[in-house]
Amino acid sequence: MSNSSFQECINPDCRASFDVGQSYFACPKCGDLLDVRYDWDRLQVPDSLSWFGKRWATRNQPLDFSGVWRFRDLLNFCGDEHRITIGEGQTILQLNDGIADYVNCSAGRVFLEYEGLNPSGSFKDNGMTAAFSHARMVGTEHVACASTGNTSASLALYAHTCGMKSSVFIGSGKIAYGKLSQALDFGARTIQIQGDFDDCMRRVQEVCRDKGLYLVNSLNPFRLEGQKTIMYRVLEGLGWQVPDWIVVPGGNLGNSSAFGKAFGELKQLGLIERIPRLAVINATGANTLFDLYENQNMRFNGGAVDDKAIDAYYAKLDATGYRPHTIASAIEISRPVNLKKCLRALEICNGVVCEVPDEHIKDAKAAVGRFGLGCEPASAASVAGLKLLREQGVIEPDETVVCILTGHQLKDPNITVKYHSEENREFSNHPTEVPNDIDKIVAALGL
Ligand code: F0G
Repeated sequence: MSNSSFQECINPDCRASFDVGQSYFACPKCGDLLDVRYDWDRLQVPDSLSWFGKRWATRNQPLDFSGVWRFRDLLNFCGDEHRITIGEGQTILQLNDGIADYVNCSAGRVFLEYEGLNPSGSFKDNGMTAAFSHARMVGTEHVACASTGNTSASLALYAHTCGMKSSVFIGSGKIAYGKLSQALDFGARTIQIQGDFDDCMRRVQEVCRDKGLYLVNSLNPFRLEGQKTIMYRVLEGLGWQVPDWIVVPGGNLGNSSAFGKAFGELKQLGLIERIPRLAVINATGANTLFDLYENQNMRFNGGAVDDKAIDAYYAKLDATGYRPHTIASAIEISRPVNLKKCLRALEICNGVVCEVPDEHIKDAKAAVGRFGLGCEPASAASVAGLKLLREQGVIEPDETVVCILTGHQLKDPNITVKYHSEENREFSNHPTEVPNDIDKIVAALGL
């Protein structure tokens, strides 16, 4: 297997390549991001996407049941003996006319890809199953990550399934309780650092480098291979038709990077005829990508990214003591590690970036609760972003749009309860407090 897949540095001036049996989380030659690449001619790739439908018939086999591994021919970096699955990727693509109406799109055009249905309640399981398969392949004993919550929950679940030690670094007071409770319950050593996600990310890299722990943040290129399958399932849900737009929240920018890679590869393989456009949505309080892409016009330029401009941007954040702040705690990140790969995805997908304020995220989240399956705040940035892009006329009412709902509604109940009980916003649904008296209860019911 190792000959038909390899790791490669994304920097065009470097392009160093490495065996998939190595675990590096940055190019050892130049420090840039690594990709997993395939020699497609040597791999047996089906000649149409609908071929994957055959695996529904053999879903009594765990790898065919997995919504990630039933597409394993498109992420073929390890053998079956290393692949681990806990049944991830059983997700739903829901046509949602209530949301279409809310965002001013035509009926029949807006779909929600609900990744909250994964075993740990977020899209992270798609990537984690792939990263842990690689971790098993290289004989890992101890895995680690920095997290705004969902990565740590997912890591902890896969680690105990694989019998590995796990350590998670989280910003003290920075993650929603649903997520913290998962990491603790699943048995991860949980290090609460007095700092934010960006601080944790820096520290976990130091520890992994110095102590040889296996890093499962999305710097890990194998993780992103698993996240490509979210797009395969979207296409499958649309009868293998390509939508006009994919709208996704942007935090550490792993998903957007993986989606761009997925579509680039499918096009290269002749499995799709056109690539959908990608919209990445930042929260206004954590808007590095928006600032760089839309305000400073930073582009991938075939790999020749302006590193100096990125360094200067981060130096300015340091100098001003800037800290990101948003109620969408999952995407409260100002130094996204996959920035360059996301810029590449935006190039591949002719993408746009926008920012949405917390108030709009809250309303969009409540709309998803009212009309759909519910989601956590960060996920609703996609719906708030679609609403904005409709207002701006970037997306047309009759275009087909898929919003990725990245995490489960129950991840962050505090925000939901506060919105409905303490706030007076568009969808607030105030609970009514009544004495324990039948007449008053009936009156409160308006009967
Ligand atoms: N939505 C949710 C629910 C998330 O948990 C995250 C990231 C994102 C969106 C952003 O995705 O990083 O691929 O751009 N959560 C990470 C974590 C950072 O630690 O759980 P991205």
